[in-house]
Amino acid sequence: MNTLDAIKNRKSIRNFKNEDIPKEIVEDVLNCGRLAPSAKNRQPWYFVILKNSMKDKVADLMIEYTKNNDETEERIKLNAPSTVSSTARVIKQAPVLVLIFKPKNDNWLVGDSLSIGACVENICLRVTDLGLGCLWIRDIVYVSKEVAKMLGHGDLELNCAVALGVPNHNPTQEPKKELKDIIEWY
Ligand SMILES: Cc1cc2nc3c(=O)[nH]c(=O)nc-3n(C[C@H](O)[C@H](O)[C@H](O)COP(=O)(O)O)c2cc1C
Repeated sequence: MNTLDAIKNRKSIRNFKNEDIPKEIVEDVLNCGRLAPSAKNRQPWYFVILKNSMKDKVADLMIEYTKNNDETEERIKLNAPSTVSSTARVIKQAPVLVLIFKPKNDNWLVGDSLSIGACVENICLRVTDLGLGCLWIRDIVYVSKEVAKMLGHGDLELNCAVALGVPNHNPTQEPKKELKDIIEWY
């Protein structure tokens, strides 16, 4: 598939077949993430791949989080969206969950976050190119500390995740703004 087709065909996939993804394919996809540009070439990404019960534990932490009615300051600040439990269900269904960690360094927060965006888009495009599907996930941040602790990665900060698998649906493309409405020439 050429680049333009991959860009046009990429869609968020939230329903996966009960089929595993071989390790070589996961590594191929992450290799494309690794090659993304990054601010100051910091390459601020570290991938942790979860499958089976480890993956489900993360989803359970998210479901647990939605059941917690304790309106703590942090919870209000994070403004947890109602999508957390549906995203957790997607994670349970997908055969592979890639966690994307970044270094804990507030001085580089914006640059590193932009760089991770480039990395994840490369991942999404390669997934599309291979005829697979994925969902870029931010809802996981509500349990980021618990996940980092579970994996013994208190030194890193969980930025986002990608659930990956063989698509079990072909959603219509989400509405996109027209170029003419978001462009200005001088
Ligand atoms: C940074 C980022 C975080 C996202 N987090 C979630 C998420 O946690 N759960 C979810 O269901 N979708 C998530 N999405 C997917 C968006 O909802 C989706 O990209 C958007 O609705 C447009 O649809 P499309 O990807 O099919 O074009 C995320 C997308 C991005 C770029």
